[in-house]
Amino acid sequence: MDWSSKTVMVTGATAGIGAATALRFAEAGATLIITGRRKQRLETMADVLTSAGANEVYIHRFDIQKKEQIAAVVKNITADTLSVDVLVNNAGLSRNFSPMWEDNTDGWDDMIDTNIKGLLHMTRALLPGMIDKNSGHIINIGSIAGHEVYQNGAVYCATKHAVKAITASLRLDLFKTNIRVTSIDPGLVETEFSEVRFYGDKERAETVYKGFQPLTAADIAESVFWSASMPEHVTIAEMLVLPTDQASATMVYKK
Ligand SMILES: NC(=O)c1ccc[n+]([C@@H]2O[C@H](COP(=O)([O-])OP(=O)(O)OC[C@H]3O[C@@H](n4cnc5c(N)ncnc54)[C@H](OP(=O)(O)O)[C@@H]3O)[C@@H](O)[C@H]2O)c1
Repeated sequence: MDWSSKTVMVTGATAGIGAATALRFAEAGATLIITGRRKQRLETMADVLTSAGANEVYIHRFDIQKKEQIAAVVKNITADTLSVDVLVNNAGLSRNFSPMWEDNTDGWDDMIDTNIKGLLHMTRALLPGMIDKNSGHIINIGSIAGHEVYQNGAVYCATKHAVKAITASLRLDLFKTNIRVTSIDPGLVETEFSEVRFYGDKERAETVYKGFQPLTAADIAESVFWSASMPEHVTIAEMLVLPTDQASATMVYKK
């Protein structure tokens, strides 16, 4: 695949899996559109991606929970005469790790509005352009939590089950088009994810990844890049990627 003529949009590219994914496509020479809420991080990432070999880099700072902001961004992208070839719906988060009756319910809104509604609105905004040219690729970052549920994770697991259903259902809607839909579903990846889940408690977040080798964000970026690089007649429908020390959502071999 010649990435130098392609535009890849990665949501949530200020950290973790999104940042690593943007870097992987930059190394291949693609044009990148990166998003997130942290302005400074976006600007730093733009420099990193340019140095890594990106053709061009566009940054869009917005909150993916706000559908009117998504609409404005997509309008700007069109005004820049960009046509998105690959959308990586990565922006997402987890809040709480407690029984439902103890959960902070604002965290529920955060997860549902980002992981489900943000992904939906982003996809809805960009799909008409892909339909017009009968080409494109939507890559959703799901989770093992979309395949299994675990204790203290009801709402996060529900959002990732929703991503799994949306991915599969969208593929049916796109039947008879050349647009591909993929879900990359990681197990434990060491990123800022647990720190966000525990509302900034770094010490608690670190314990999640102690005693075994978790995945790196680059491991998932490689899976995304590989799926996107398949010839156009090949769709990687879904890919569950686990650390070797992880056998299920809750079975992790900690030495
Ligand atoms: N880490 C894991 O173990 C793991 C496992 C399975 C699946 N995942 C999934 O992988 C994806 C990326 O997570 P990560 O591990 O890379 O976490 P991360 O390091 O915390 O990165 C999350 C990214 O999402 C962005 N984001 C969050 N809320 C946003 C909002 N309202 N508007 C715009 N951007 C927002 C953040 O950007 P700003 O803060 O700058 O807005 C950040 O760039 C998520 O969908 C997550 O559910 C992670």
